[in-house]
Amino acid sequence: MKFVLITGASGGIGLSIARELAKRKNNLLLVARSTDKLQRICRDLEEEYGIKAEYLSEDLSNPLATQTVLEWLRTNAYSVDTLVNNAGYGVWGRVDSTPADQLNNMMQLNMNAVVNMCHALLPELKKHPKAYIMNVASTAAYQAVPTLATYAASKAFVVLFTRGLRRELKDTNISVTCVSPGATSTNFIDRAGMEAMRERAEKFSMTPESVGAIAVNGMLNGKAEVLPGFTNWFSVQLTYFVPKFITEKIAEGLYKTK
Ligand SMILES: NC(=O)c1ccc[n+]([C@@H]2O[C@H](COP(=O)([O-])OP(=O)(O)OC[C@H]3O[C@@H](n4cnc5c(N)ncnc54)[C@H](OP(=O)(O)O)[C@@H]3O)[C@@H](O)[C@H]2O)c1
Repeated sequence: MKFVLITGASGGIGLSIARELAKRKNNLLLVARSTDKLQRICRDLEEEYGIKAEYLSEDLSNPLATQTVLEWLRTNAYSVDTLVNNAGYGVWGRVDSTPADQLNNMMQLNMNAVVNMCHALLPELKKHPKAYIMNVASTAAYQAVPTLATYAASKAFVVLFTRGLRRELKDTNISVTCVSPGATSTNFIDRAGMEAMRERAEKFSMTPESVGAIAVNGMLNGKAEVLPGFTNWFSVQLTYFVPKFITEKIAEGLYKTK
């Protein structure tokens, strides 16, 4: 029996990706921290789609988390042909007013966990005739974003890492896709401490359901990069033509904390 492993599937975009894949009759392995939510989601998806869904409650910002995930896969002899690295979050605020441990925890999850999960799962993914990796970045990756400076940089890392990995694996069975959503109505705003941004963000937010559907289609169609929604696609295209000082000024205006 084959499984898709999805990180951060207890809500938001990750849950929508899980649902999209369940609709296509994929069995699921879901990893996040919230045991109750994961338990309920697995039961619901199993009942609704007739698939098998299992979960592991794990904090992936722990540097040893990948080892725990690998042990869980080995102990249960789970065979994985698709890996979705979706877990991530932002921390809103100036670098000089944010505690370093908050930035480090975010960087650990947004970057190190993504690399470690890919690295750990590659031998397993290579065993299948066709395999997929999806890494979730953000439109914030395409320009510097004052007050989300570290988050945006961590997502730029995800874009470049994913593109590099895709190229390295181009002659293998593994297709690698980077998905960069823009504002999406999830728990992201609360976790990032961006309550004051909610009204502004909701004006152009997409639903997690539409982002999940576009993400899964893009992955299964072997796309290198997926930018869900025209506005997000267009804003990223602009960054290739507009001078950096202008895109940074626009981002500064959009994300200012006061
Ligand atoms: N929403 C947006 O506007 C937006 C825009 C661009 C990119 N993104 C990216 O999309 C991805 C999904 O975010 P979302 O918007 O769906 O946010 P969300 O609703 O906050 O969901 C985040 C998911 O990640 C899990 N997670 C968070 N910290 C974790 C940790 N330390 N270990 C394991 N799992 C953890 C959460 O579950 P637990 O709390 O149960 O651990 C949850 O399942 C993130 O990578 C985010 O950066 C979001």
